[in-house]
Amino acid sequence: MNHFQRKRGVLHAERIPLAALAEAHGTPLYVYSTATLTRHWKVLHRSLAGLDHVVCYAVKANSNLAVLSLFARLGSGFDIVSGGELYRVVKAGGDPGKVVFSGVGKRDDEIAFALESGIRVLNVESAPELARVSIVARRMGVRAPIALRVNPDVDPKTHPYISTGLRENKFGVSVADARRLYALAATDPALEIRGIACHIGSQITELRPFLDAIARVLALAGDLRAQGIHLEHLDVGGGLGITYHDEEPPHPDAYGAAIKKALARWDGRVFLEPGRVLVGNAGVLVTRVLYVKRSGRKTFVVVDAAMNDLVRPSYYGAYHTVELAGLPREDAPEIVADVVGPICESADFLAKKRRMPEPLPGDLLVVRSAGAYGFAMSSNYNARPRAAEVLVDGDRALVARRRETYADLVRGEEPAPRAERFTASRG
Ligand code: LLP
Repeated sequence: MNHFQRKRGVLHAERIPLAALAEAHGTPLYVYSTATLTRHWKVLHRSLAGLDHVVCYAVKANSNLAVLSLFARLGSGFDIVSGGELYRVVKAGGDPGKVVFSGVGKRDDEIAFALESGIRVLNVESAPELARVSIVARRMGVRAPIALRVNPDVDPKTHPYISTGLRENKFGVSVADARRLYALAATDPALEIRGIACHIGSQITELRPFLDAIARVLALAGDLRAQGIHLEHLDVGGGLGITYHDEEPPHPDAYGAAIKKALARWDGRVFLEPGRVLVGNAGVLVTRVLYVKRSGRKTFVVVDAAMNDLVRPSYYGAYHTVELAGLPREDAPEIVADVVGPICESADFLAKKRRMPEPLPGDLLVVRSAGAYGFAMSSNYNARPRAAEVLVDGDRALVARRRETYADLVRGEEPAPRAERFTASRG
């Protein structure tokens, strides 16, 4: 359920026509719905009622301050993977005590920043990382709160690029290594064992892989307890899929109920790290048609958004619904077209072989389900300023990120000076 619906044929974000937003803020334009973001967070939170849990929104999916602050006000925790994401969470008023820090490559400065900020836990993903965390904590004279991210070797049956819980993936430590590392951590005064974590992948559309992973992590937690290693929490990760096209992922209610059942015998706290399911269908990308180009037997609808704005179609072959923001012209012929951007790459497409009423230059197209990993993965490739982001609340809209300018593109850069004016550098 989302709040991008047609009224008299015209697509709205809550109570505002998307065309009005495009007129006011230009295109390409990301538009998010407050009501949908709030609803998605609350539905997931309520699905876990009765379980002592913290929903830690995975910041990587959409890290705009407006989105983060909205979730922070609902009482959300956050799953971060970099110092930059921690900075954003703190800026947005998030509670560091509800922050979990995942990722295979944490730098010393990021570990120190996390410890200074008083985050809940560092999800450690390797033996050398555990050693680094200990060194940094000792240097700072603090104890580092840690969990081990276990790789349960479960196939999430999703795209290989977003599968993380298989032995061959770079993430987490094996169950056998986890046993050894917990024993090591338990004897290290600079480390405080808080919990255990797993995350097996993203856009998962079945419950089975989640339940298999939880069963394996629970079994390990039981063994650890028998050895006198106490775990305050168990983190089940994120990964619940959404409907982009014809997928039928479990409803968050079913997901919550299944997690509760699987963890019925767990008496600690439970953390979740959902990203996509909270924000994916809470955002769209609005783009304007520049040309309709015919080339041999193919038809291309050339729009002003491109793979730098939304990379998912070209990177993962992902499907996003594309539709007209307004009503089609009555006499518009049906065409089958690729929707492509202006970037100089054949992989620059938003949609392929889509049947649609032929649009005219100037018409607006809406790319659905763009709230997760949309703007967050955008770039300046081809020196394209990044899109603006707007947050709608009822009949009001907030510019959550202004459109970048040409000056933004070169901020921090220097033209090369003549040779004699280079600064000397040793090493
Ligand atoms: N926790 C960890 C440790 C993760 O690595 C991820 C996502 C999540 C939570 C959140 O997963 P979600 O609930 O959003 O599925 N760019 C890709 C998705 C990459 C996901 C990376 N990790 C895409 O556009 O499909």
